[in-house]
Amino acid sequence: MICDFMIIGGDGDLAFRKLYPALYQLEVAGCLPPCLKIVGISRSEDDQQSFRARVREKFESYQHEAVDEQAWKSFAARLHYARVDATSEASLLPLREKYFADSNRDLIVYLATPPTIFAPVCQSLWAVGLVRPTTRIVVEKPLGEDLESFRSINASLSDLFKEEQVYRIDHYLGKETVQNLLAMRFANSLFEPLWNNNYIDHVQITVAETVGIEGRWEFYDEAGAMRDMVQNHLLQLLCLVAMEPPARIEARSIHDEKLKVLRALKPMSSSEVRENTVRGQYQSGAVKGSAVPGYLEEQGARPDSTTETFVAIKAEISNWRWSGVPFYLRTGKRLVKRYSEIVIQFKEVPHAVFGEEIEREDANRLIIRLQPEEGIRLMVRNKVPGLDDPMELEQVSLDLSLSESFPDRRAPDAYERLLLDVMRANSTHFMRSDELEAAWVWVDGIIAGWHKINKRPLGYTAGSWGPSDSIALIARDGRNWDEG
Ligand code: BG6
Repeated sequence: MICDFMIIGGDGDLAFRKLYPALYQLEVAGCLPPCLKIVGISRSEDDQQSFRARVREKFESYQHEAVDEQAWKSFAARLHYARVDATSEASLLPLREKYFADSNRDLIVYLATPPTIFAPVCQSLWAVGLVRPTTRIVVEKPLGEDLESFRSINASLSDLFKEEQVYRIDHYLGKETVQNLLAMRFANSLFEPLWNNNYIDHVQITVAETVGIEGRWEFYDEAGAMRDMVQNHLLQLLCLVAMEPPARIEARSIHDEKLKVLRALKPMSSSEVRENTVRGQYQSGAVKGSAVPGYLEEQGARPDSTTETFVAIKAEISNWRWSGVPFYLRTGKRLVKRYSEIVIQFKEVPHAVFGEEIEREDANRLIIRLQPEEGIRLMVRNKVPGLDDPMELEQVSLDLSLSESFPDRRAPDAYERLLLDVMRANSTHFMRSDELEAAWVWVDGIIAGWHKINKRPLGYTAGSWGPSDSIALIARDGRNWDEG
C-alpha cells in the first residue's frame, strides 16, 4: 500500500464534500500509510495554507463534527494543492517532478471532473509518464447518458489503462449494509435455500429521498432519476440480491455474477414500458414541514422540462432462479421521507392451518434497511400471548440494528471504504465496464420506450409517496409497497 493520491478537480464539490473528509477519517482510523501524499489539483489560484484551512472548514460544516487535532496535524501535512491544468502536459510535468517522480510508489488518480475531459487528461498523464502499470484511475458517474456515450467515455480510459487499473465508483457499493448483504446471503446457510422463486413472492427496492435537485439543475435535467439512480445504484442493489453465490468474495467472481444478472434483465417493448413503468415529476408541496418548490420552479429550471424525478419499475429477471418473481424498483426526489430499503417478500405458507383470515402481506418478509438507520428485520408471525381460541396471530419483527449490535464500532462512510479499497488495489466493490454496458442496454430500452410513448411525467406533490400510478403498479398484482 505504498501510494499517493492525485485528485484532479481537487477544488470541486465532490472533493470537499466526500473525498477529503473520507481520507481524513482514514487518517483518524490509522489506515493511511505513513508517507502517503494527497495532492489536490485544479486550475484555480490557491496557496497551501488557505487550501488546508478550506478543507478543514468544509469538513466541519458538512460533517458536523469537530476535528481531532492530533489526526488533523498528520493529515494536513499530507495535503498539498497545486494549480495545474491537467489537460496540459507542460502544466503536469513540474507536478510529476515535485510529487510523483518515484515510480516505485503506486499512483492513484481520482478524476473528480466531468467525463468530457477524461480523454485529454489521460493523454497528458501518459505524456508525462504517469501512466505506469501501478497507476490506478478512479472515476464515477455520470459515465455517459446511454450505451454509446458510455462506450466513448470508457474508450478514453481503456486506450491507456487496463481494465484492472480503472475503478468505477458506485458509492452504494461502499455502504455498510450493502456489503453486509453479501455476508448475510453467503455467510449464512439460512437464507440461500429459500432465495428463489419457490419461496420468494417478490422483491422491492426503494431509494426514497426528501432532497430535491440541490442546485444541480443542469446536470439533473440531462439525467433524470433513471440515469441518476436506477442505472447505477438501484441496479447494483438488484444485482447483489439476485446474483448466484460467487466462488469467492473477490473482484472477478463478484463482477462475473453481477454481469449475469444484468444480462438476464428482461428487455421491455414499448407497450411493456407503458405497463411496467411510472415516471413522475415533483410539484410544489411540503417536505418535513417546510414548503418546497416544484421541479419546474427550481432555480435555473426550464419550464417545459419533461425530466423525471421519480421512477417506479416492475422488472423481471429471466433466469431459472427468478422466473416469475417481480422486482419492483422505485426511487424519487422530494418524497415523504428519506429511506432506502430492500424487501424480500416470502410466499404464503402452502396450507393455512390457522385459518384463512390471516393477512396475506403478513407472510414472512425480510427487510434490509440501508438508511437512515442501517439494519435488518425479519418479520415473522407470532402467537399473541393470551387465552384466545382460536389463537390470535400477529406479525412481529426480529431486529438486527447494526448500531445496537456493534455499539463500539463506527460505521464508515461509503467513500472511506472505497478509497481504502483503491489503495489496497481491491476492485471487488466497484463496477466493471461490461456491467455498466449491460445496465445501459436495459435502461436505454426503457428510455426509448418513453420516447415512443411521448407522455409528460405524472405530477406528484412534494412530500408524498410519488404518483398514485406507482401504487397502482404494484397494487394491481395484489401487493403493496413497504412504507418503512
Ligand atoms: C447520487 C445522486 O449518486 O446519489 C444524487 O447523483 C443522490 O442525486 C445521491 O441524491 C443519493 O446518495 P445517498 O448516499 O445520499 O443515498
